[in-house]
Amino acid sequence: MHTNTNKWGALHNNETNHPKVIKCKAAVAWEPNKPLVIEEIEVAPPQANEVRIKVVATAVCHTDLHHLLESMSKDGFPVVLGHEAAGIVESVGSGVTEFQPGDKVIPLFISQCGECRFCKSPKTNQCEKGWAATGHDVMASSNYRLTCKGKKILQFAGTSTFSEYTVVNQMAVAKIDPTAPLDKVCLLGCGVCTGYGAAVNTAKVEPGSTCAVFGLGAVGLAAVMGCKAAGAKKIIAVDINPEKFEKAKVFGATDFVNPKDHSKPISQVLSEMTNGGVDFSLECVGNVGVMRSALESCVQGWGVSVIVGWTNLEDCSTRPIQLIAGRTWKGSVFGGFKGKYGVPQLVEAYLDKKVKVDEFITHNMTLDQVNDAIELMKQGKCIRTVLHVSPQ
Ligand SMILES: NC(=O)c1ccc[n+]([C@@H]2O[C@H](COP(=O)([O-])OP(=O)(O)OC[C@H]3O[C@@H](n4cnc5c(N)ncnc54)[C@H](O)[C@@H]3O)[C@@H](O)[C@H]2O)c1
Ligand SMILES: [Zn+2]
Ligand SMILES: [Zn+2]
Repeated sequence: MHTNTNKWGALHNNETNHPKVIKCKAAVAWEPNKPLVIEEIEVAPPQANEVRIKVVATAVCHTDLHHLLESMSKDGFPVVLGHEAAGIVESVGSGVTEFQPGDKVIPLFISQCGECRFCKSPKTNQCEKGWAATGHDVMASSNYRLTCKGKKILQFAGTSTFSEYTVVNQMAVAKIDPTAPLDKVCLLGCGVCTGYGAAVNTAKVEPGSTCAVFGLGAVGLAAVMGCKAAGAKKIIAVDINPEKFEKAKVFGATDFVNPKDHSKPISQVLSEMTNGGVDFSLECVGNVGVMRSALESCVQGWGVSVIVGWTNLEDCSTRPIQLIAGRTWKGSVFGGFKGKYGVPQLVEAYLDKKVKVDEFITHNMTLDQVNDAIELMKQGKCIRTVLHVSPQ
């Protein structure tokens, strides 16, 4: 039997013209707290309503580290991590009309089926379909499309982008402007949309307001950018790593606080700087102690605090009087964006130079170097590392 590749790299069986299994390279996480291993995996053809994507570029987000190093998940392995990516549709399964081979796309870790009551409501982006609906940690648990050495491999957040190819349900794919540079806009697959949207959509930052952003990774820096775009007049950037402050200035931060420089609780420091507390705070760390500080840094009466950092290991708590006094505590996934609408819009905003993306990228590497990229983030030495997986 002969096979051919089309111009997007699709492997087709000549007699039936149906897509075949692809053997390709991926970084497999066989178990928690161990380096990823570059393996040859098999990627199944897309089934009904699925899209197989050639991953061009993927970045490393802290949520990948959380799953690998912090979540204590025993069931969540072996898995291919990675969820912040951009690529090109290689082939589509039956029933797919929205996409065709060659389309430039960004996989979505929050699906948008368009039909459920959440998709139909303008109040949320939390579709009830997709991996999130299974309630199992952060992956598609029922349908396996990836295998390695005869073992089924889980798909992290339903995406798995630390791989040359992946298969995603069409409800979890956004089509983007074909002129967009995929090795840049991959960051819109998670970190940049998450932080920016948390400020603009979830906190609903107001012009002239005072904001505090805790944690200055890509998510926090994008939140700073969102606060600035919304017209905040004072944006206090908080991080225990002072090397992050220079970057925060680029995105619009006006004041900088390192909790390690103070013996008082950080909420008191911010309260003194702002005559009683900030109007809006955003927690972009994933630490329940910081979540409490962020809430308690808000002014009574109307302060709004948004939890963006990702953790589900411990309770977060505060005294009820903090909320009785008029503060609001909220959370945000993917910045509240419905992916199929929000991602293409942000790609356009980037192409129109209305949002920054390039400035988040501190390192460029190949998929083979994924463990180095993870190490850089662990040590706080990068903002985003883009892994160049396949040529555009
Ligand atoms: N809600 C969502 O949809 C969503 C999406 C993406 C990421 N996340 C989460 O957002 C968080 C940030 O992700 P990232 O990729 O920017 O991570 P990152 O590791 O690049 O950045 C985290 C930053 O927090 C700082 N930090 C650590 N402890 C701190 C403390 N006590 N006080 C102040 N700053 C502190 C670190 O120095 C670092 O600069 C993670 O928890 C990630 O899992 C959530
Ligand atoms: Zn992420
Ligand atoms: Zn839905």
